[in-house]
Amino acid sequence: MAAQVPLRHFLQFKDLSRAEHDYVFARARWIKQQFKAYQRYWPLADRTLVMIFEKASTRTRLSFEAGMQQLGGAAIYLNTRDSQLGRGEPVEDAAQVISRMSDLVMIRTFEQDIIERFASKSRVPVINGLTNEYHPCQILADIFTYIEHRGPIQGKTVAWIGDSNNVCNTWLQAAEVLDFNVHVSTPPGYEVEPERAGLYGTDHFEEFADPMDAARGADLVTTDVWTSMGFEAENEERLRDFADWQVDGDMMNAARPDAVFMHCLPAHRGEEVAAEVIDGSHSVVWDEAENRLHVQKALMEFLLLGHIEQ
Ligand code: CP
Ligand code: NVA
Repeated sequence: MAAQVPLRHFLQFKDLSRAEHDYVFARARWIKQQFKAYQRYWPLADRTLVMIFEKASTRTRLSFEAGMQQLGGAAIYLNTRDSQLGRGEPVEDAAQVISRMSDLVMIRTFEQDIIERFASKSRVPVINGLTNEYHPCQILADIFTYIEHRGPIQGKTVAWIGDSNNVCNTWLQAAEVLDFNVHVSTPPGYEVEPERAGLYGTDHFEEFADPMDAARGADLVTTDVWTSMGFEAENEERLRDFADWQVDGDMMNAARPDAVFMHCLPAHRGEEVAAEVIDGSHSVVWDEAENRLHVQKALMEFLLLGHIEQ
């Protein structure tokens, strides 16, 4: 039997300390190197990940499923539409059962409260694969990508242009944990809600009415869809409200010359980002997407095996 590690969940970015994030990034670097060199690394042989999806996904499903297999384990996909969760089985009951049959659970759902309730009854670690409030695995990958391209993120400035959604909230939490700054520009009525974002304070972010001002001097410019999953009814209104919040070439030119552009994907060219930016020289979106695989493998290893002697 493997040694027991204390039960930990990753429901929001601040669930790991700065030292633990640094450790996960270091492991992700090593795990990525092994993968690229076709070196077999199976520390999670015989472990099973259950992935529960209440919303659509390409990257999250693929990176967790492929990642678990590459670590020697197995991954099972459950969709709420065809499981009893979709027919009203209480989340707490599902958590008791699913966590007796698996070693790790990843959930993509609506309110954060749902994943918190699941985790409160789970015997095994639970990972947030996106909720209305947060997307912590995405920001793990984004920061790992920044570090790969430009070095440490501490003290740097990230410009967030657009909706103050789950991805934005997670950038804001990450800024507090890892000590960098976020310049946020949203249309009026879509401002950051610090409590919903789970922030301790407002020291690490500043809001700008004009997105050009937010982008000025930034080391990293990023955005996301104007209408997140679950908010489709607001789409028409949002298309109007966000029209001036597109990241275009002028906005990238306001950032530092070596600024990188990120987008969690899927993207809508001509809405939140111009094709010239996402397909241009500042963009690192494909590395960013790939790195979901590597950082989540490091995260799963950490949650199941704790610190490994390196
Ligand atoms: N970025 C991201 O989470 O993508 P998917 O919705 O495809 O999983
Ligand atoms: N904010 C987006 C991210 C998709 C990966 C959403 O929640 O739909």
